[in-house]
Amino acid sequence: MKSQQFFVVFLFLIIISVKVSRIQCTEDHNKALGQNVEIARNKRSPVADPGFGGGRGGFGGFGGGRGFGGGFGRGRFGGGFGPGFGGGFGRGFGGPRFIGAPLVILPYRPTMQLLYVVPLVGLMFLKTCCKASIHKGGILYPRESESRQVTVLDGIWNFVAPSVNFSGNPLIGFEQHWYKRDLKDIPDVKAIKMPVPSSYNDITVDWRVRDHVGLVWYDRIFFVPKFWSDSGRVWLRFESVNYAAQVWINGQLVMSHEIGHLPFVCETTAYLKYGKENRITVAVDNTLLPDTIPQGRIVELESGRLQQTITFDFFNYAGIHRPIKLYTTPKTYIDDITVVTLEASNQRALLKYNITIQGEHDVKCRVTLLDKAKTLITKSEEKSAEFSGVLTVESPNLWWPYLMHPDPGYLYSLEVELLDTYGEIIDKYVQPVGLRILSWTNKSLLINGKTLYLHGFGKHEDSDIRGKGLDLPLIIRDFDLIKWVGANTFRTSHYPYSEEIMDLADELGIMIIDECPAVNIEIFSQSLLSKHKISLSDLIKRDKNRPAVIMWSVANEPRTQFPAAKDYFRQVIQHVKSLDITRPTTIVEAQSVNVVQSSEYVDIISFNRYNAWYSNEGNLDVVLQKVINEATAWNNKFNKPVMMQEYGGDTLEGLHFLPDFIWSEEYQVNLLGKHFEAFDHLRNQGFFIGEFIWNFADFKTKQDYTRVGGNKKGIFTRNRQPKSSAHHLRRRYWALAREFYNVSIPSDLHSYVIENKKIFHWEL
Ligand SMILES: *[C@@H]1O[C@H](CO)[C@@H](O)[C@H](O)[C@H]1NC(C)=O
Ligand SMILES: *[C@@H]1O[C@H](CO)[C@@H](O)[C@H](O)[C@H]1NC(C)=O
Ligand SMILES: *[C@@H]1O[C@H](CO)[C@@H](O)[C@H](O)[C@H]1NC(C)=O
Ligand SMILES: *[C@@H]1O[C@H](CO)[C@@H](O)[C@H](O)[C@H]1NC(C)=O
Repeated sequence: MKSQQFFVVFLFLIIISVKVSRIQCTEDHNKALGQNVEIARNKRSPVADPGFGGGRGGFGGFGGGRGFGGGFGRGRFGGGFGPGFGGGFGRGFGGPRFIGAPLVILPYRPTMQLLYVVPLVGLMFLKTCCKASIHKGGILYPRESESRQVTVLDGIWNFVAPSVNFSGNPLIGFEQHWYKRDLKDIPDVKAIKMPVPSSYNDITVDWRVRDHVGLVWYDRIFFVPKFWSDSGRVWLRFESVNYAAQVWINGQLVMSHEIGHLPFVCETTAYLKYGKENRITVAVDNTLLPDTIPQGRIVELESGRLQQTITFDFFNYAGIHRPIKLYTTPKTYIDDITVVTLEASNQRALLKYNITIQGEHDVKCRVTLLDKAKTLITKSEEKSAEFSGVLTVESPNLWWPYLMHPDPGYLYSLEVELLDTYGEIIDKYVQPVGLRILSWTNKSLLINGKTLYLHGFGKHEDSDIRGKGLDLPLIIRDFDLIKWVGANTFRTSHYPYSEEIMDLADELGIMIIDECPAVNIEIFSQSLLSKHKISLSDLIKRDKNRPAVIMWSVANEPRTQFPAAKDYFRQVIQHVKSLDITRPTTIVEAQSVNVVQSSEYVDIISFNRYNAWYSNEGNLDVVLQKVINEATAWNNKFNKPVMMQEYGGDTLEGLHFLPDFIWSEEYQVNLLGKHFEAFDHLRNQGFFIGEFIWNFADFKTKQDYTRVGGNKKGIFTRNRQPKSSAHHLRRRYWALAREFYNVSIPSDLHSYVIENKKIFHWEL
């Protein structure tokens, strides 16, 4: 309590010193979340810069961007560089007013800078004040074993979005201690039902829930069996809450977490009532600010409603997106496992393992490697001090990508056991392991010594009603479509995907370019850098053992033309390399090769370009030369392997025009075809290592006059049915697979044409 009182005084002093009257300082400071909104309200810029005046102005705006977009990448976002260009003038007048000036101008406004410190202090305090806070060690996926039990807390929860009533106080839940009672029992609060996992936005018929900004509250009752009190420890693990969360068990704060799409866990042993009902309450804040990953800003509309503005082109879905698990471990337990393949050939593989143990007892550790049929392959000695070593596997089944091998995605099981002094098993965890090794040069990327050509997609976690909520039928359907198309890779654009998706990628041999949530960042501050690093630490901690992950993508379309991007990304890449040197890194660029400041630090160059779409719309005849020229320029300048990570065009399924016309299925097919021609030319140059169509499926975006119900660049509809382009892409990807790996072509790739002879794409 002492530290809490100290904090109250401390916070109060800061607030007074910067003359902020609207931040209420109550005895409750569990308000870091809500303060995002409150702080944003207070960050009203004293001078309304015309450049940042419009709702979209800060990001260049549509009209503004196009004027000088060409040289800076996508026209839409071309104007991100701010005041100088007065971007967004079109909507700047009379449009919504920005609350909170962007950080680029903060250094000139000391008051603003101080204000900005307040929510950070709040968050730091939260992390140190709680008796139980986020577990700093491993983040192993909860698996049942002889010593561990897992319960899932998914289901129908109670839900309240206080700011749905605009005139309401967004912090009311904290002021009235909603976490101390059942939400459904609070007078004047009408809790509704909400499924978990799911985004809350598209579940109800109320647009105010969809477009809501700030805090929402979830709770439910769950039962903890009596015998769990003998288990040792009980843990609570969230797979993803977007964007920030605070969690109470039976009215007591157990943890708070910031950054979506990543898991977090804490020990809850002391907070639970055993053999009784318990209540879990979760406050979720979807507010994005200039120092969150990704960035965003809050504007206040003339109606008084707060609106989130974002630079990225997908809907900012929010809520409890993935399962919540309660699980047990013994008192002394396996906290983390790290495996690295040191050598991988057909004769021999070497697997390095490192086990981290937590707890009081003296234990021995034993690791055992089993093959797919659960046959013992090799075993370590029992070790008591250092729980690391190297296992040798003779004639191994290496992990190979889909299409590269008849049995792709081969996984061994590494059984890790802790034994007490009598040799009894205390704890056991089974970690899937793939034996494969990556290497790269200034021309190519190799797996197990064989050159890779990546052909795949940018994707989204997105579907109707569920938003970004985990949806197992959709996940299985997507992998079926990926295999049907003959793709071997996708990028988790633009945030980490669920662990259920990653597990399937490991098992099916679908390679993953694993991307952190830093999409379209543009203001390179120290606070952003530290959060960016945390997002990468958490991602690597989660996915380090996955054979499917072949690359770390540290950002998508950052504004790397700014001088500040240089040192920023030097530090980001250095951070990744300090955690994992076994995989290459990339930044997915939208800026032009001449202005980018950060490419010298990455291993592999990725670029996005929408030829014949955001520029040269309708002019398919420019695609071939533009793509060849740009990819070649990247390689010439940086002498590194190059991939095209995004290209494509919006297409309304069922819209047909001959000759092709923008938005028609014919146009999309021919746009792909022109790119394929360029890729084939580039492949012959020897440095071009991958092609990724944007996007796998149509997905929802914010409301926008350029978006009819969302982004329609999918080769599948949002409901996962093919457009004409899916069939076209499929013929290409299978032709590539036949060329590289001599796979047999699916018999339904072409329909009968004449004389029972199948006419193949490459024969026409
Ligand atoms: C919003 O909240 C205010 C104050 O609590 C209340 O008077 C008003 O009726 C509410 N409006 C709606 C639409 O719920
Ligand atoms: C094992 O992991 C621990 C904790 O991350 C680390 O300190 C140690 O250096 C590692 N040991 C080896 C042999 O890699
Ligand atoms: C790139 O590869 C070429 C050919 O293998 C080699 O001669 C050259 O030294 C490499 N350059 C760099 C910078 O690694
Ligand atoms: C490709 O596969 C076919 C049968 O699937 C086989 O007959 C042929 O020899 C293979 N070609 C090469 C170059 O391996």
